[in-house]
Amino acid sequence: MRILSGIKPTGELTLGNYLGALKNFKAFEKQGECFIFIADLHALTLPIEPKVLKENSKSLAAFYLASGLDPKKTTLFLQSDVSAHSELNAILQNYLYMGELSRMTQFKDKAKSMKDSAIGLGLFAYPVLMSADILLYDADVVPVGEDQVQHIELTRDLVNRFNKRYGKVLVMPKANINKVSKRIMSLSDPTKKMSKSDPKGDIYLKDNPDVIRKKIMSAVTDSGNEIKYDEVNKPGISNLLVIYAAIKGIDIPASEKHFQGYRYGDFKKEIADTVINELKPFMERYQEIMKSDLVNQVLLDGAKRANKIANITLKRVKRAVGLFDEK
Ligand code: TYM
Repeated sequence: MRILSGIKPTGELTLGNYLGALKNFKAFEKQGECFIFIADLHALTLPIEPKVLKENSKSLAAFYLASGLDPKKTTLFLQSDVSAHSELNAILQNYLYMGELSRMTQFKDKAKSMKDSAIGLGLFAYPVLMSADILLYDADVVPVGEDQVQHIELTRDLVNRFNKRYGKVLVMPKANINKVSKRIMSLSDPTKKMSKSDPKGDIYLKDNPDVIRKKIMSAVTDSGNEIKYDEVNKPGISNLLVIYAAIKGIDIPASEKHFQGYRYGDFKKEIADTVINELKPFMERYQEIMKSDLVNQVLLDGAKRANKIANITLKRVKRAVGLFDEK
């Protein structure tokens, strides 16, 4: 089995990225061959300073390693180090259509506050490149948070469309979402997803423990005083229950049961302790890795391995569509 996922090095990584994606990758090492990458080409779809992008990319590689991924088992690489992503993107863009791309929720969300003249083609075509990322490695499973499922569904439509025309060329991928942590919400507005651009509602992995505690203690809760999972009437409490369950690796009813009879204040205090205790050793490993030369070595090695596999698929696709490639 092949497993593939990526994260964009666009901003500070949040607890949402950590629980919804990063923390889940390690478990897949036992199940098959893993490819985990830094989606730096995707990071260009919205304006970003070159220096920031470069720093974020290195930092994300260190986060991957700090999460326990073993670079001997998992191929860790930079998307831009494998030119086949851009080449396959150029081919696949002909098999995805304007109508379906304009219906993507992520595109609509990002574009709604922008003028048409400021929306780059890359933002619109984001799912095309994402399809190329997935299909180049013949990925069977793509672990992501819920917000990415629509893009993977579109990749599946593309595979059907492409294989119907050219034969069995592309492998059908499937999204894998962690049922508990698929959608971590903002602490300041628990009806909104935690994203990388809301300093009050986000917990950033780089926040120090005092900041984390402060953010959790002032998280929006709900009226009443019962600790109960109820997404509609108690979104704030529910989100904190989810965070606890995701960290402890338990289900939501077990999390609810643990906090039965707690008052809001004590509940939040324990959530803060839990998040801090989870992130502390992780961040210590991260700091150590950032000081070392490991990231460069791992990415160099990862690029070699990724290129080898990606080029095999690219060749297969080029031949299938009739591009002259006799080398
Ligand atoms: P990015 O960087 O926006 O998100 C990285 C991962 O974090 C998950 N995530 C969340 N999960 C739970 N709760 C949240 N609040 C939350 N916020 C983010 C996302 O679902 C994602 O899994 N397009 C991808 C990057 C990418 C990719 C790919 C992923 C590019 N090519 C190919 C898989 C396969 C993205 O959204 O990154």
